[in-house]
Amino acid sequence: MVITQLRSPRGCLSYLVSDAASNETALIDPSEEITAAAYRRLLAQRGLSLVYIIETHTHADHVSCAGALKQATGAKIIRHRDAPSQGKDNAVVGGEEFPLGGSVLRILATPGHTNESISIGAGDAVFTGDALLIGGTGRTDFQQGDSAALYASLHETLGALPDDTIVYPAHDYKNQSASTIGAEKCDNPRFAFDRETFIRTLDAHHPPKPELFERAISENSR
Ligand SMILES: [Fe+2]
Repeated sequence: MVITQLRSPRGCLSYLVSDAASNETALIDPSEEITAAAYRRLLAQRGLSLVYIIETHTHADHVSCAGALKQATGAKIIRHRDAPSQGKDNAVVGGEEFPLGGSVLRILATPGHTNESISIGAGDAVFTGDALLIGGTGRTDFQQGDSAALYASLHETLGALPDDTIVYPAHDYKNQSASTIGAEKCDNPRFAFDRETFIRTLDAHHPPKPELFERAISENSR
């Protein structure tokens, strides 16, 4: 697999994941700030064929350009069944596998940041959306977030992956690009909390709403 990380000016991360032999490609969490045209340019420059567009969840801090990319390329959109958007060619709940050339993408249910958050396993990497960030996790105080569910997603689902699994999150504000499950288990304070402390801490965590909140939720839910 060949992975390209793309960073928006706001620190939102999207990823091109390609099967090296076939050039079949999935695009995870495309952002309007990077622009559909820029993704298409990159795909064309590299001779990549876009097969899937995957949303790890309904983003509240940027507007997705999944719809525009689907129209331009015919790629299929993969989202959780409970995502509010009607733009789903494949509605998933976790456990599904999608072929990408000779490689496989595995969908993991990782609710908690939102009720419809998924992670995607690809080779020795996992794309965690906002379930697991480098040194942190997503918040749980809107979009049907659930701190107990996030704790289970961290410890039972993501934490069960091999320690050397490379973690690619949907956000990073500290100029870090990737981590591993093992490093997060050691260094991420939210991984270190016991269940009760985790739930109490996340339930009390109410940072300011993202700047684009209303527009992002409204457009990403269409
Ligand atoms: Fe999010």
